[in-house]
Amino acid sequence: MDTPAETPARRAFYERIDKQNMTALWTVMGALITPEPKSACVPALWRFDEIRAAMLEAGKLITAKEAERRVLVLENPGLRGQSRITTSLYAGVQLVIPHEVAPAHRHSQSALRFVLEGNGAYTAVDGERTKMHPGDFVITPYMAWHDHGNDTDEPMFWLDGLDIPLIQFLDASFVERLGEDEQPIGKPEGYSMARYGANLMPVDQNGRTRTSPIFNYPYARTREALDQLSRTGNYDPCHGIKMRYSNPATGDHAMPTMGTFIQVLPKGFRTAHYRSTDATVFVAMEGKGRTRVGDATLEWGPKDIFVAPSWKPIVHEADEESVLFSFSDRPVQEKIGVWREARGNA
Ligand SMILES: [Fe+2]
Repeated sequence: MDTPAETPARRAFYERIDKQNMTALWTVMGALITPEPKSACVPALWRFDEIRAAMLEAGKLITAKEAERRVLVLENPGLRGQSRITTSLYAGVQLVIPHEVAPAHRHSQSALRFVLEGNGAYTAVDGERTKMHPGDFVITPYMAWHDHGNDTDEPMFWLDGLDIPLIQFLDASFVERLGEDEQPIGKPEGYSMARYGANLMPVDQNGRTRTSPIFNYPYARTREALDQLSRTGNYDPCHGIKMRYSNPATGDHAMPTMGTFIQVLPKGFRTAHYRSTDATVFVAMEGKGRTRVGDATLEWGPKDIFVAPSWKPIVHEADEESVLFSFSDRPVQEKIGVWREARGNA
């Protein structure tokens, strides 16, 4: 819809009502209600070796304790200064160097971790620790106490994904600090996985937790599942083999605000055009290839991170067998009924 032409009388009217904090809808409607998604978010890629080098520099400048979290925020080039990788989501890469702790706190923002490098540093969530390994997907739910520590001799890097912009939009942010580096540990390691991750459920469990009670989805298990499935050769033309992480208590997404996915593309696979309304952050966990997002071509290798905005057609090309982890705000869009996808060139 075209914006109606401005006349001297109309302009005078707009100026008059402007002083009363009013605006004529017909002057802004075209920008508010667009025929299809129109976003400032643009396709972009961050190379892991560049992130890693900058992070090691940051490691010499500030401790995890002083920083509270030593993280470099991945800012979408179209959204600089806003600490967001898509319009609704935040991403950063966190470093915990040997023998340091990122102190315990909790907040209304939900967080996911996807481990990039290092072996055996831990995250503690609600009184239970989990050791992290590359490719593990770890959850910190809404208002759950969490701290991170590294008792190993290697630096540990992971991707943080949070719903910060979403919570900011809703003006619903709270944070509390425990005042201790580490929270008390009351459960043995593996407790949640044993209770909820073995296709079993405690007999009296009838609560439907919004966030999955499993807080570490180890890559070893995920990779084995992908391996088995890919042996069937039953590939989806748009996705290869793509799975979503799920909450075993509900079957829904593992987290209420962020959908998390893992997919494998065999060597030489080229996906058919696909687009959806959830802008998506990808991590190339394994392999090498490129992703065309609209007119942009993003060349990726292991651990590179890239982003595809809402509704831009995506085509992945894998030069080697590749595994992509991804996350988006899809659960939120599904809940309010606006999520949409289009497959193929239509
Ligand atoms: Fe946190």
